[in-house]
Amino acid sequence: MSAPFPHRHLLGIEPLAAEHVVSVLDTAETMREVLGRPIKKVPTLRGRSVVNLFYEASTRTRSSFEMAERVLSADSLSIATATSSVQKGETLLDTAKNLEAMNPDMIVMRHGSSGAPHFLARHCKAAIVNAGDGFHEHPTQALLDALTLRQKKGRLEGLKVAIIGDVLHSRVARSNALLLAKVGAKPVLCGPPPLLPVGVEQYAPTTTRLDEAIEGADAIMMLRLQRERMSGAFLPSTREYHELYGLTVERVKKAKPDVVILHPGPMNRGVEIASEVADGPYSVILDQVTNGVAVRMAVLYLLLGGSGGEA
Ligand code: CP
Repeated sequence: MSAPFPHRHLLGIEPLAAEHVVSVLDTAETMREVLGRPIKKVPTLRGRSVVNLFYEASTRTRSSFEMAERVLSADSLSIATATSSVQKGETLLDTAKNLEAMNPDMIVMRHGSSGAPHFLARHCKAAIVNAGDGFHEHPTQALLDALTLRQKKGRLEGLKVAIIGDVLHSRVARSNALLLAKVGAKPVLCGPPPLLPVGVEQYAPTTTRLDEAIEGADAIMMLRLQRERMSGAFLPSTREYHELYGLTVERVKKAKPDVVILHPGPMNRGVEIASEVADGPYSVILDQVTNGVAVRMAVLYLLLGGSGGEA
């Protein structure tokens, strides 16, 4: 029996206890069963309304939230800020107040500023779900990664998970390091010195040596090189980055024989990961995407207090 979920919002992994992480994963397993049915529709969130508010580009997160909302019969609408009044200079607070006036039950938000969903939570009655805020957190990504790891390995406790690449700009790295430590796994953060921020060792042990991170790893999680967030010259070239930190077939051999390879997407093929690895037998990258829908269904269900009904 999973622990009841006591939170009104999902702003990050940091405030969650291990038992609540497990509660989301267990609920997501139930949701996977719904997704495997010929008719993928349950009335669980009928009459509930969700606004998806994305200030940054997204393929996987936004579409999987939309799919999760449809499967659970919630009424949802997505606001693309490129075609909204944000372009006319409307502030986040004014946008929030106007959305609040429409009385949605939940707002799912991605924003380029760390803490933007926390700001929304202070000003709105709706449940707020963080779909990625700046360099801070991406909690549903960490939850779907954990679900994938648990399915492939049968457990999370004790797993060595090497998280490699652009740690500095990665909200995925932070949320994963927090989650894995909470559930007793052993995350290791690895990247070139300019992309390993000062203080990050509070989340997990760090190394600049790729071989050290990969050696004996049960799972390798590659991070996207976020060139759009790099204002200065962090790296000499992407070719050199690939030579030093790119995941190749030869490097995978230093991990455990049954290692699994994760990447949150979108991938820079030939930069942080070779195509032969991304499409190879150890890759669980598309399983992560499938699990994204189930985890987001679980989050919607747990925060909106679904009736239980058929799901
Ligand atoms: N992993 C992830 O957040 O992908 P998107 O940017 O496509 O949503």
